[in-house]
Amino acid sequence: MLRYPWRATPLQKLIFSIALGLALAPVAANAAPLTYLVGHGTKAYPVVALTWGVLVISIAVVIIIALLLAVAVWRRRTAATEIAHPPGGLRWVWIGTGISTVVLLISCVWTMVVLAQVSTAGKKPPPYVIEITGRQWWWEVHYVSSEASRNFTTANEIHVPTGTPIEFKLIGGDVIHSFWIPQLSGKTDTIPGQTNEMWLEASKPGTYAGQCTEYCGPQHAHMKMLLIVQTLHDFHAWWNHQLALAAQPASASARAGLNTFTVHCGACHAVRGTDAAGVYGPDLSHLMTRKTIAAGTLPNNQAYLLGWISDPQGKKPGSFMPRPDLTGPELQNVRSFLLTLK
Ligand code: CUA
Repeated sequence: MLRYPWRATPLQKLIFSIALGLALAPVAANAAPLTYLVGHGTKAYPVVALTWGVLVISIAVVIIIALLLAVAVWRRRTAATEIAHPPGGLRWVWIGTGISTVVLLISCVWTMVVLAQVSTAGKKPPPYVIEITGRQWWWEVHYVSSEASRNFTTANEIHVPTGTPIEFKLIGGDVIHSFWIPQLSGKTDTIPGQTNEMWLEASKPGTYAGQCTEYCGPQHAHMKMLLIVQTLHDFHAWWNHQLALAAQPASASARAGLNTFTVHCGACHAVRGTDAAGVYGPDLSHLMTRKTIAAGTLPNNQAYLLGWISDPQGKKPGSFMPRPDLTGPELQNVRSFLLTLK
């Protein structure tokens, strides 16, 4: 309960609560990674301004109507005076309709202007495209360069450079998913049988949370992603690193793990430079450069990695990764190998 430093009337309490709520809204928004009330980037700025504009208009409409209703109810009690001094009649209906029409028209025109503003990137597109395929329940991320030898595939963590409009092609791998990085705006579905195009631009380096926003099965909530915005220099370094082939593992355990991995996991997962070339699951070539595993469900560290490969169904029931038929030492070896994928 809020304690007021003075003996506040109910109206003062109401006004104080609304003012406090509005003052704290930006703080709360910053603490919530999936907020759409703050934006970063050319596309997000006009959309977030419109969101706030329509939000404030809606709140104002609710408050004004509630106050008018309260006044009407209160005035009803003095019916005798109403009869003595009749109100303006239909005049108020015209005034109300007029004001509503103007406000709705402003909202409509503002929305059209923003839609036109964000429909295309407006600048020359960068010399590559990122293809995102929504799958139950992870994101395949394929970078398509103008030089085919520089194409590569990763999963769930998308790196982009700052200050450049990025072109995305969104593909539905199985059912309908929806790709959304709330702070950068541009929520778009991935639909099987069609490719949706979308662009985004991030204004400053940072990590932005994303989430599938179309119910796609029991693990829909565990279909997260991260968009990592880097300086152009860091982004190019990251890309070059992603093209590197897996190094020959140094330890005996990791070497044994590579063999086990190739036999048991290689039909679904790929690792560049090994015989594992499956396409059904995430590409693991540089797994240890990612912050999370299982599409943002678990932190990517030694303990969780072993837990995940030992019992994926326990961590993410219904996912297509079966519980592997491996002994404890074999699992340890596979983990040793995975840890080399830097
Ligand atoms: Cu994919 Cu919800």
